[in-house]
Amino acid sequence: MNPAMRRSSLSSLSFCVFFLAGAAALAAQSLSSDTSAASAGALLFRQTGCGHCHGADLAGTKKGPSLIGIKDDSKWPVEKMRDQILNGGKKMPSFADSLSDDEIAQVITFLRSAPQTATSVASSEKK
Ligand code: HEC
Repeated sequence: MNPAMRRSSLSSLSFCVFFLAGAAALAAQSLSSDTSAASAGALLFRQTGCGHCHGADLAGTKKGPSLIGIKDDSKWPVEKMRDQILNGGKKMPSFADSLSDDEIAQVITFLRSAPQTATSVASSEKK
């Protein structure tokens, strides 16, 4: 094989590997789009400062209520959560300027997928 031929077959091989890896990554992404939206949302929750009031573990602080188990709270359907985050509430600021619609959807996916913690189990047992 002359050097030119070897180079071209090598580069088409690496193109092929690259392409396959890309296709696999895409397939994995669509399979776990909910999981990746939730982890993007978790990051946004931290970066946007939601945790300052709601607690890094979602358990709430003096400044904001617990968001644990909000998925099962019939008072907080997705639409209302979006409205709260967009427009704020009595004490919660609006995030319309800092989060896009997609980002708000990711934060909501995160909040609705956040696992129950020991704290929430303990407080629901008290009721
Ligand atoms: C300055 C403190 C503060 C920050 C920052 C904050 N919140 Fe809130 N949040 C509150 C308070 C206080 C409430 C209760 C209702 C009200 O007073 O607006 C609330 C209510 C909520 C609710 C409704 C749940 C309930 O039981 O009332 C959701 C959902 C929520 N916040 C999500 C978020 C998200 C997501 C972020 C970040 C993008 C965020 N909050 C940032 C203070 C805050």
